[in-house]
Amino acid sequence: MNRLAVQLNRLQLANPILVASGTFGYAREAQAYIDFATLGGIIPKTITPQPRIGNPPPRTIETSSGLLNSIGLDNDGLEQFIEKHLDYLLSLNTSIIANIAGRNVDDFKQMAARLNEFDGLAALELNISCPNVSGGVDFGTNPKLAAEVVGSVRDACSLPVIAKLTPNVTSVVEIAAAAAEAGADAVSLVNTFQGMAVDWRRRKPILGGVLGGLSGPAIKPLALRIVWQVAQAVDIPIIGVGGIACIDDVMQFIVAGATAVQIGTANFYNPGIANQLVGELSEIVEEQGCTHISELTGSLQT
Ligand code: FUM
Repeated sequence: MNRLAVQLNRLQLANPILVASGTFGYAREAQAYIDFATLGGIIPKTITPQPRIGNPPPRTIETSSGLLNSIGLDNDGLEQFIEKHLDYLLSLNTSIIANIAGRNVDDFKQMAARLNEFDGLAALELNISCPNVSGGVDFGTNPKLAAEVVGSVRDACSLPVIAKLTPNVTSVVEIAAAAAEAGADAVSLVNTFQGMAVDWRRRKPILGGVLGGLSGPAIKPLALRIVWQVAQAVDIPIIGVGGIACIDDVMQFIVAGATAVQIGTANFYNPGIANQLVGELSEIVEEQGCTHISELTGSLQT
């Protein structure tokens, strides 16, 4: 038995360690550093129906224990993704979860239907939470719209559906409940926290997009809190994401209620970290006297 295999409704993963969208390119960039086959899965950079040039530079700035980004969903569009990257990704012997974003419900629906034509994708992650494009987070800040997107994608394809939610709302629980009700197989919690950096001498914002999304260790306690709150309230598998950088971080998310996790910002300074975490996770399960990782999931006592 594979003691790390996890099931998130219709999505099965060999282990709970995924790499997060936007931190791993389309995987080619990382091939010198990592054995893809050991990963639970790869989530490539968000794709949109049409190419996007993204936001003006500067697009990233390091902050205390964090990274602010304002990329603006720079990508070559769905058809280029299919032509240039899909075959390669599907050859990697790990689960590939395509991350998609659209300007309206129909965009999401059409992209889901198009990707459904190809064998081998493990799931779709719906980016209804990007803070850096106009209209980007609207779906994720309104439970009705979030449900509409999830429901439409479910109707348009047979792939498992993951909704990636924004923390920039009063209650992530409410949005997660709406996504679950609409048929999401899982929720990814959470995308970046909206933030800002200022060059006060120039009296200018540092990022070309003015505002950005904060990721990295600085947000870990916030993401962990949201995972725990949603796990208490909503019956849906959770993929935890936000500042995970070592095995203790992984375990904190798992005991708080995450079935799987995504490694994000840490990939930028240690592109092999996800491999290392899979090995360490296996050792921890054994050390804890468990036969399967699920014995630890949500085991936090308060
Ligand atoms: O700006 C960006 O491309 C970020 C995307 C995201 O946070 O989802």
